[in-house]
Amino acid sequence: MLNFDFHNPTHIVFGQGRIADLAKLVPAAAKVLILVGGASAEKTGTLAEVRAALGEREHATFTGIEPNPSYETSMQAVAQIREGGFDFLLAVGGGSVIDATKFIAAAVLFEGGDPWAILEKFGRNVQRAMPFGAVLTLPATGSEMNNGSVITHRAKGAKLPFSSEHTYPVFSVLDPTKTYTLPPQQLANGVVDAFVHTVEQYLTYPVNALVQDRFAEGILHTLIEVGPRLLTATEPVYDDRANLMWAATMALNGLIGAGVPQDWATHMIGHELTALHGIDHARTLAIVLPALLNERRGPKRAKLLQYAERVWGITTGSEDERITAAIERTRDFFESMGIRTRLSGYGLGAEVIEKVIAQLEAHGMVKLGEQREITPAVSRRILEAAL
Ligand code: NZQ
Ligand code: ZN
Repeated sequence: MLNFDFHNPTHIVFGQGRIADLAKLVPAAAKVLILVGGASAEKTGTLAEVRAALGEREHATFTGIEPNPSYETSMQAVAQIREGGFDFLLAVGGGSVIDATKFIAAAVLFEGGDPWAILEKFGRNVQRAMPFGAVLTLPATGSEMNNGSVITHRAKGAKLPFSSEHTYPVFSVLDPTKTYTLPPQQLANGVVDAFVHTVEQYLTYPVNALVQDRFAEGILHTLIEVGPRLLTATEPVYDDRANLMWAATMALNGLIGAGVPQDWATHMIGHELTALHGIDHARTLAIVLPALLNERRGPKRAKLLQYAERVWGITTGSEDERITAAIERTRDFFESMGIRTRLSGYGLGAEVIEKVIAQLEAHGMVKLGEQREITPAVSRRILEAAL
């Protein structure tokens, strides 16, 4: 096992009816800016519930954080916070709203000029951030219990991640019933994003991290079990929603990634596909991952065999046959969730590859993966295999 620090300060408040706990969780004297995405929080009644729980506290709402949140919209919220003197932020939404809130919380107090520099330095220059909490409405990203955020600069056509010890939510409310209004394609996105987060931290090379491996396999089994049921259920099933929600949080709250090598190449290539072509985050991962696993089957051999056996129960055939079967089962699982796994499924062809490679180079993504061996030439082969 590798050396590690593990410190996760986010207080999780889980279960039906827990939005009422905001009355205790938000400081009594706080002046609160609630941040939401488009219309969903209002339409589903979650926003009304949040406002009721805030009681007498002074508060206002910033609406309009888009999926794949932008620097431009976030800076409008920064201006409103400075003008209005808000001292506590409350994100109500999915990963996009929570990610934007992290950036906004850091940008308000940033002293290094244009806050876009936070993304350019991947968050290393963040010295402090405003306190914020979250009410999660879409289980997928793990943003509710981690310090990471991904922001798109529309004018520059760049989608970059940052993280900082100062951008963990103080608390996150996870009420599984708030997912009942999600359309099937967002549920599918959530299952696939959480699946790939787990794989990014698990399918690397062995370091005898037995607990992390078993936890990761447990999350993958849970997603494989629950995922198809979420799509076929005629009525939402509370425990399936609860299990998806907790699996997605556990997939990216630092626990399974402690003391193990991490890949993240699928995500970095996927972010470029979203920035250039607007494909949903999880769908970009479904395009890249099967091709990447096949390309990296040598360096990932031992873990791919472990994955084949323990996650998919594949025990017969040569080693290469077992690895091929495991990659195919992964692809089939994504497809069974209604998510296409090839660029052609999104109307894209070979013409996109050079643009993606140029963007990866422009963003310094030239030595990706746990071995730092995924150069632009390797990324090109992965994308060619994903056509
Ligand atoms: O905007 P509204 O109207 O709220 O609608 C949203 C949005 O259109 C809708 N939605 C959310 N909750 C709902 C709902 N609709 C009905 N009922 C509900 N309860 O869902 C749509 C998508 O929401 P979004 O927040 O964009 O989805 P997701 O949670 O998948 O977040 C994706 C973003 O997170 C980033 C991605 O890159 C992408 O920008 N990621 C963040 C990570 C992190 N912070 O650790 C890691 C991930 O790998 C990922 O990169
Ligand atoms: Zn992701």
